[in-house]
Amino acid sequence: MAKTKATDILSLIEAEHRQVENLFAEAEKAKGANLVEQFNKIYIELILHARTEELVFYPALQEYKETEQYVEEAEEEHEEISVILEEIKALKHNKPEFKEKMSELKETLEHHVKEEESEIFNAVRKCMSDQELTELGQEFQETKAKLVSNVEAALAM
Ligand SMILES: [Fe+2]
Ligand SMILES: [Fe+2]
Repeated sequence: MAKTKATDILSLIEAEHRQVENLFAEAEKAKGANLVEQFNKIYIELILHARTEELVFYPALQEYKETEQYVEEAEEEHEEISVILEEIKALKHNKPEFKEKMSELKETLEHHVKEEESEIFNAVRKCMSDQELTELGQEFQETKAKLVSNVEAALAM
């Protein structure tokens, strides 16, 4: 298959980070049912993104001495993000804690995204070839597609 920039795993991850940031910007303006709807989108996108990274990107990081050191902390941050997502899901949207928890989620996420896009991506570029990054991009998209229905079901639980 022809190599395209679009299927490079780093570009895909970056694009998803920007997409979630846009959803947060929308959520900040939203109230009532719209806020819940906006949270639901964030929940689905974030869990899909994190699970796919854990299944495709982080195992690839484990393969190289330049990148393996980053996996443990990144997984812990995913865990932290998942906990906050479940806490928000359990809250009623009209409670004052809802917006507070959304801010906490946003901050935790900002820290994690910054780390991925700076330190981790820099280290990845030093050890993985363009071809490997493209193959991982393909795998990332395929794995994510398979997870969609499970994550949507988790939101409904
Ligand atoms: Fe991540
Ligand atoms: Fe990420």
